Amino acid sequence: MSAYKLLLRPLLFGLDPEVSHDRVLQLIPLLAPLIKLFGRREACLNVKLAGLDLPSPVGLAAGFDKDLRCFEHLDSLGFGAVEVGTITPQPQTGNPKKRIERLAKDNAVVNRMGFPNIGLSDAILRLKAAKGRTGQVGVNIGANKQSANRIQDYIEGYRAVANLCGYVTVNVSSPNTPGLRALESGDGLRLLVDALDQEIEVFGTPVFLKVSPDLSDSEIEQTCGILLDSRIAAVIVGNTTTQRPSFLKAKYKNIGEGGLSGEPLKEISLAALIRFSNALKGRIPLISVGGIANAEDVLDRIEAGASFVQLYTGLIYEGPLLVHRINRSLVRLLRKRGYANIQNAIGAATSSVVIKCAPPQSPTMAPKPAFSA
Ligand code: FNR
Repeated sequence: MSAYKLLLRPLLFGLDPEVSHDRVLQLIPLLAPLIKLFGRREACLNVKLAGLDLPSPVGLAAGFDKDLRCFEHLDSLGFGAVEVGTITPQPQTGNPKKRIERLAKDNAVVNRMGFPNIGLSDAILRLKAAKGRTGQVGVNIGANKQSANRIQDYIEGYRAVANLCGYVTVNVSSPNTPGLRALESGDGLRLLVDALDQEIEVFGTPVFLKVSPDLSDSEIEQTCGILLDSRIAAVIVGNTTTQRPSFLKAKYKNIGEGGLSGEPLKEISLAALIRFSNALKGRIPLISVGGIANAEDVLDRIEAGASFVQLYTGLIYEGPLLVHRINRSLVRLLRKRGYANIQNAIGAATSSVVIKCAPPQSPTMAPKPAFSA
């Protein structure tokens, strides 16, 4: 058992999840120089994505450093890219507390945060202050809950941060802002990407679209059709799920609403990746997120068609050395599966991977309605 699981995790798990996360964000700048010593960059793990050179195929997913409190220290943990946010144009306080539930027996979390964040003006100041002292940084942008024009919020966000980061993620898939997911397919998505395309032409900074793992097959077809006709550089599949798999050990009625992440999301997220991969056939790169906690998970996603992966909840359960461990094991696993490097593994098994998870419209796993506090 790791020192983290033996010593630090019990202390952190004794605190309210949001309080313990706050402590972790305070500790990271102190621990990062030490944690960095456990890692080594390996050339075979280099990934090229949307013109970006990334030193590992594992990135930090949005939500961990929402307010850009310690992002300049996070690449010391071994990440190939660090995504901050979600940032909305105006600061907002988010949903009422308690809004993070730890499902410890399931290695999972349910959150209904609702984008609490410092807003664009302060985020810009923090990005500028850290310029030149970071690895690859992506900024995840969202819309304010009370916004009268959500598409305009994304345009404002992109314009504000495009010159201060490597890529921008347009997050239209949080289940915790009522109505937001209407922008991830159909007319809503068409209007959004048409508006974004004009800005991408001006600024050039790549835009990744973050979708939910709860889209049905027909929605995925429709979404991919729109994206193939756009300047969107990659699709992040995806956010947390509103599904509640029947195998959850946590008592269902006590969890409350919100997005589920971590181990129970693993098969759902892999299934969504395969569906997107089948629809896009390599024409737009995919980034897979959800339930990734070891090197096998990473390589499985890469072989299934992802060019890059991200994780968050795995860090909570496995600790700050997780990504260095994954990077080391990945080098061995690549050799074992016969690849010279990670780039060669991308999509290598798309014809043989099997979807083990029913599509979301199945009655046993029907998505719950979005949180509406
Ligand atoms: C998230 N996630 C998230 N995603 C996003 O795009 N913007 C956000 O602000 C947040 N906030 C957030 C808070 C908390 C507490 C969690 C646990 C998650 C979703 C996250 O980026 C990721 O997509 C999912 O958590 C699935 O990956 P993991 O956690 O299973 O590796």
